[in-house]
Amino acid sequence: MKLVTIIGARPQIIKAAALSRAIKTYYADHIQEIIVHTGQHYDDNMSQVFFDELGIPHPDYNLHVGSASHGVQTARMTEGIEEILLKEKPDFIVLYGDTNSTLAGAVAAAKIHVPIVHIEAGLRSFNKAMPEEINRIVCDHCSTLLFTPTKTGLENLKREGFPVDESGPSTLRQAQGPTTTVPTINNPKVYHCGDIMYDNSLYFSDIAEEKTDIIKRLSLNDKPYILATIHRDTNTDYPERLSAIFRSIIKLSEECQVVLPLHPRTAKLLKTNLDETLQKQIFSCQNIKLIPPVSFLEMIALERHALLVMTDSGGVQKEAYFFKKPCIILRPETEWVEIVETGNAVLADADEGRIMQAWQHFKGSPPTVFPEIFGDGHAAEFMLEKMLLANTNC
Ligand code: UD1
Ligand code: UDP
Repeated sequence: MKLVTIIGARPQIIKAAALSRAIKTYYADHIQEIIVHTGQHYDDNMSQVFFDELGIPHPDYNLHVGSASHGVQTARMTEGIEEILLKEKPDFIVLYGDTNSTLAGAVAAAKIHVPIVHIEAGLRSFNKAMPEEINRIVCDHCSTLLFTPTKTGLENLKREGFPVDESGPSTLRQAQGPTTTVPTINNPKVYHCGDIMYDNSLYFSDIAEEKTDIIKRLSLNDKPYILATIHRDTNTDYPERLSAIFRSIIKLSEECQVVLPLHPRTAKLLKTNLDETLQKQIFSCQNIKLIPPVSFLEMIALERHALLVMTDSGGVQKEAYFFKKPCIILRPETEWVEIVETGNAVLADADEGRIMQAWQHFKGSPPTVFPEIFGDGHAAEFMLEKMLLANTNC
């Protein structure tokens, strides 16, 4: 079986590590993976570092599209991906998540009838102002094999008309499509399999402890700290929202250190969207550690040792949960609703009052119960089994 995997943005490179690892470990003789990097993320600390650190094979192709408006970036990627698909003739294209690289892969493949595997299918924010919401809806509705990381993802797809056969034992690993039909582009199949990021967090968490010294390097030993990340356009591109988040970081820093690995988008927009006084306060505060993006191993080490996580990232809010940390979500809604429903995260948006209230809440009573909602850490193997099965039956 031949797969073309599309990656482009940081979290996709990290997710792809789990699938490539499972191919190498279990299916080296049966599955050939061609990796295509769109070049959506290109700084070394947003891309190369993950290849070096996580053992991901070097991309077979790099489209080097770089940054541009949504239309231009997506169009350039679509053109490049189409050319590669025509040349490589894979059995499936594998797409992760909801970025412009995902959308481009879906459009390119669907138009020339290459079956699509969507990993992290079914998630919805119900907010179409988010570019990611458009990307994930389009991708899901073009896909042939859809793998949902959570029960909510599965329910969303059901509601959108995907056929789901719920007869038989309802274990996590049960195939959720009618077992007799072969998935085709007109007869997609949905599987609930758990979260591929969970595979990675389990696999790399001890390795991170061994191989990184970030806690020591930042002099964080024995000192409580909040780990924060900000990169959503809805936060970075609106001065009043970005200012509210940073005002709350300054307030939090009066009680606790704040470590903030800055996404390049945020690093750039800090300088234009925050007033000078606020910038001065942030850059001069001893208790705020503004650092460049860190590697994945460093990030999970930081998450493991943090008191609390504050983020607008999808991946980081989940990882907070994996490492049993409370999380303040800097968004009005989340696709990962289970984290909020279990009481382990709070939606605070870019609202200073709500952020401080959430901090007081978690400081007073940190959560202790984190039910298993993201599968068993073997999502990648399960997905490969299902791809092989679908390919044999086709
Ligand atoms: C993208 C995804 C978002 C995902 C995030 C993960 C879309 C629409 N958005 O957002 O869903 O959560 O990646 O991090 O696909 N930049 C650099 N160097 C880089 C990459 C980006 O400087 O290596 C800067 C550029 O100024 C660029 C900006 O960051 O314009 C935004 O990059 P882009 O890839 O368009 O979107 P992200 O905000 O990274
Ligand atoms: N991450 C990282 N270094 C950082 C910040 C994040 O390795 O400095 C990892 C993080 O652990 C998670 C993924 O990047 O696995 C999340 O990516 P991001 O927040 O950029 O995007 P999102 O998940 O919101 O799409």
